Amino acid sequence: MKLNHVLVSFAGALSLRQAHAAPSISRASGDNTKEAATGMCSPNDATYSTEKMPNGSYTDWGSLGLDNLTSGRQYITIVNLTPHRFKLDQTHSYQMDVFDWGDIPPGRSRQNIAHYTEEAGANAVDDNGEAYYSIEGTNQKFILRATTHIPDTHPRRTVVDLSGMGLGQREYLNPRPEVPVTLVITGSASHGFVASLTHGPGNWMRQIYDVIKDRPLQHIVMPGTHDSGMSTISGQILSIGSEANTQTQALNIYDQLRVGARWFDLRIISVHQSNTDDYDFWVAHVNDENADVPVGNTGESLADIIEEVNRFTSENPGEVIFLHLRYLVGLRRVLTGGPIHWDNDIVNDFFNELKKISNRCGNLDTSVQFQNQAASYFMDQNNGTGCVLFLLDGSNLPDGVPRASVSDGFYPAEQMAVHDNWSNLATTRPMAENQIEVWSAIERAKPFTDDEFLISQWIVSADAVSTTALTIQRIAIMPTNPALYWAGVNAMSPTKWPNVLLVDYIGVVVTDQFAWNQLSAELYTLAIGLNLYMISENCDVSSQRHPLLPPVASATSSALRRLSPAWNGIIFANGTVVDKPPQGVHPGRVEVLKNGTVFSDGTVLEKDTPNPHFRSTIL
Ligand SMILES: *[C@@H]1O[C@H](CO)[C@@H](O)[C@H](O)[C@H]1NC(C)=O
Ligand SMILES: *[C@@H]1O[C@H](CO)[C@@H](O)[C@H](O)[C@H]1NC(C)=O
Ligand SMILES: *[C@@H]1O[C@H](CO)[C@@H](O)[C@H](O)[C@H]1NC(C)=O
Ligand SMILES: *[C@@H]1O[C@H](CO)[C@@H](O)[C@H](O)[C@H]1NC(C)=O
Ligand SMILES: *[C@@H]1O[C@H](CO)[C@@H](O)[C@H](O)[C@H]1NC(C)=O
Ligand SMILES: *[C@@H]1O[C@H](CO)[C@@H](O)[C@H](O)[C@H]1NC(C)=O
Repeated sequence: MKLNHVLVSFAGALSLRQAHAAPSISRASGDNTKEAATGMCSPNDATYSTEKMPNGSYTDWGSLGLDNLTSGRQYITIVNLTPHRFKLDQTHSYQMDVFDWGDIPPGRSRQNIAHYTEEAGANAVDDNGEAYYSIEGTNQKFILRATTHIPDTHPRRTVVDLSGMGLGQREYLNPRPEVPVTLVITGSASHGFVASLTHGPGNWMRQIYDVIKDRPLQHIVMPGTHDSGMSTISGQILSIGSEANTQTQALNIYDQLRVGARWFDLRIISVHQSNTDDYDFWVAHVNDENADVPVGNTGESLADIIEEVNRFTSENPGEVIFLHLRYLVGLRRVLTGGPIHWDNDIVNDFFNELKKISNRCGNLDTSVQFQNQAASYFMDQNNGTGCVLFLLDGSNLPDGVPRASVSDGFYPAEQMAVHDNWSNLATTRPMAENQIEVWSAIERAKPFTDDEFLISQWIVSADAVSTTALTIQRIAIMPTNPALYWAGVNAMSPTKWPNVLLVDYIGVVVTDQFAWNQLSAELYTLAIGLNLYMISENCDVSSQRHPLLPPVASATSSALRRLSPAWNGIIFANGTVVDKPPQGVHPGRVEVLKNGTVFSDGTVLEKDTPNPHFRSTIL
């Protein structure tokens, strides 16, 4: 094909929109119905697509332990939790053995592929590609880039460019060959969009109060963390549990709350010095807290956790935070002779510590199980600053000591019926398939015969040797967490979803990168999007008009705008943030399109050609 023609069509595809044009709104079907007029949910308004997506690939576990991986394959998952189709307009690529991208219909996810060339003799520095998307029915567009940074320990990078939507750009390190980079987008043309490049406000539940207030807790989705207090190895008990095999989180409870977690699995012990009356409360992770000599280690102190929760709730009022406490037993610093069962004095000490947490909710109505109680019941407590709910699993407490204190807001775990489903499987794929099977078996529709509050433990339980070799961190962030966004999301629908998405190493996407700007907001954005978009399509769960449709008459909703504060900067892979980049700066965009660059319409450049859009202020 003639070069001029190629450039014209490339330019045509790219001359898309002015940066600040107001989104145009496509009217969804059902706008003139009685339901729309009355602000009610209508099945006619549903946009969720049942289109089958191509199967994704799980990351090969065998490769986790190896350095110098030769695979050129990289995955880029895009999750669409909007009522609009993400349409692939065009791609071009250079030195990609496969560059496979496609449309993402509403409610679906696609694992795209950029297979960097493995051809001998190719100069990897030049591997490059771009995929151009438009959001159908709007004038919004975004771009993803597959690029390189050589030499570097992470030679391949993915740039998500949402600058055309006013949502910034971010350069991600590809964590490893075959490990996905993920983008989640929710919102709509009429309400604005939110994406996973950055975390929005800490109090995401409060921001979508109008959407979730009438839903019982078992119709709400939230992130959760496994063994939440194990973000450090504090060595309060003398045992062999190490960072590799015992630490399950990188962020302390304050930061876990900021990245969206609401369900916390806290295993609390008292650690006793040689004089057993001398003790403090710590989080622990051990194989069996009742064993003669448990194996594991301690994490954060209870005192630190209390401070962190209080700091979060004072800065971010209005949430429902679940602290599920178990173990509740004593261990000696030098582990001998088995557990020390708590007596009245220890329980009283423990309760006195817990009373330092603000926003407790004492004397709630215990005649209704919490999972059946509306979210607003909890969010409205304490003058609208919300609830820190304590659920105490007292199975290690001896008879005769208190197991709860309702007036203080310490409820027995049974007050909330929870299906805490742990697959106990050693690798990602069987775990994922098992978890999907469990949530798929629940039909979230009237008459709700099998409804429940389901915790999906999206975690694998490898044996001790593999865990120590590969580390809990790498197992979580490489094969396991990323699979939630293609395998997991494509197995969800308006009637199929778990309530808690429980993970290890929440927020972390690249090994050992724990600074705030290096975290990524996939789970935060997914939880918001599932509540806002996905579950709102289910009129049995949500009687109000879908909150992402254009408002009727005087109705207003500014939740999305609050969730997505105006920011159109760049986050570089090294964590550097440029809030106001000069116009036309697009990391990963090449200055010269090389001879051999392939366009998705089948054309191929026949000589090196300056990229007409290199400094373009439009897309
Ligand atoms: C996709 O995965 C499903 C479920 O594992 C399987 O039944 C189907 O054959 C797969 N399709 C392709 C094209 O591989
Ligand atoms: C593997 O990678 C390490 C670190 O990047 C490097 O020092 C080493 O030389 C590499 N080995 C091979 C065989 O490429
Ligand atoms: C709620 O606010 C009212 C009026 O501002 C105040 O009198 C009351 O003490 C507050 N209650 C709580 C639990 O903070
Ligand atoms: C997980 O759920 C499945 C299906 O309900 C059930 O068979 C299995 O026993 C559950 N496991 C746990 C630990 O709850
Ligand atoms: C981070 O990367 C940006 C863009 O490549 C660069 O300008 C900046 O100097 C880097 N910062 C550090 C601390 O290396
Ligand atoms: C472009 O690449 C092709 C294939 O390698 C080569 O035959 C051709 O001469 C190149 N064109 C230019 C202008 O270098």
